[in-house]
Amino acid sequence: MTLSIPAAEALLAKHSPADEAWPRHCHQVAKVARHIAEALQKRGVMSPEDAQLLEVQSLLHDIGRSRTHGPLHGWSGYVMLRALGHVREARGCLSHWLKGRDLHEVQPSRLWTAEFATRAWSELHPPPWTLLDSALSVADSSVQHTTIVPLRQRHEDLYTRYGDSPWLRRAAELAELQAEQLSAALGCSLDAYLDPLFGDQLD
Ligand SMILES: [Fe+2]
Repeated sequence: MTLSIPAAEALLAKHSPADEAWPRHCHQVAKVARHIAEALQKRGVMSPEDAQLLEVQSLLHDIGRSRTHGPLHGWSGYVMLRALGHVREARGCLSHWLKGRDLHEVQPSRLWTAEFATRAWSELHPPPWTLLDSALSVADSSVQHTTIVPLRQRHEDLYTRYGDSPWLRRAAELAELQAEQLSAALGCSLDAYLDPLFGDQLD
């Protein structure tokens, strides 16, 4: 059974350092995800169970930051949640990190071995990439620190913070493709649908 939203909030709170902003970022990602899920449910393309799972994954996607802020925080979070028995909930830690890349795009890195890349990627496949995965990816790409912003603004900020790189460029490209997929599922532009949320900040 999927973790309840209050249980996910409690788990996030348990691992939240008081002086760090990333838990508030997670709450904002969950807000965007909930907004998207509501519309997808109305359109009959997302079940209530998947809407709950999406919100739970959003709340917990960055929980690995309680261990490391490095590029492998997604893997850390995945291992943490899996060890607690929350395997489906753990998927969000991997999916927001790998972002729907093919295996060959994950392979070359100075940060991990080919064996590790294959193992991490294989944890997501099967099952294949889903609409739920796209919704989490786009929700994460719509929150800059703790403010909800358009995708392009968020990616420009990432280039500034971490330096321009093929990895980040591909993340931006995939997020745009996933936004198009969601727009088609919503029957309207995702950007227009999220517009009322832009600028919303959680202090
Ligand atoms: Fe995030």
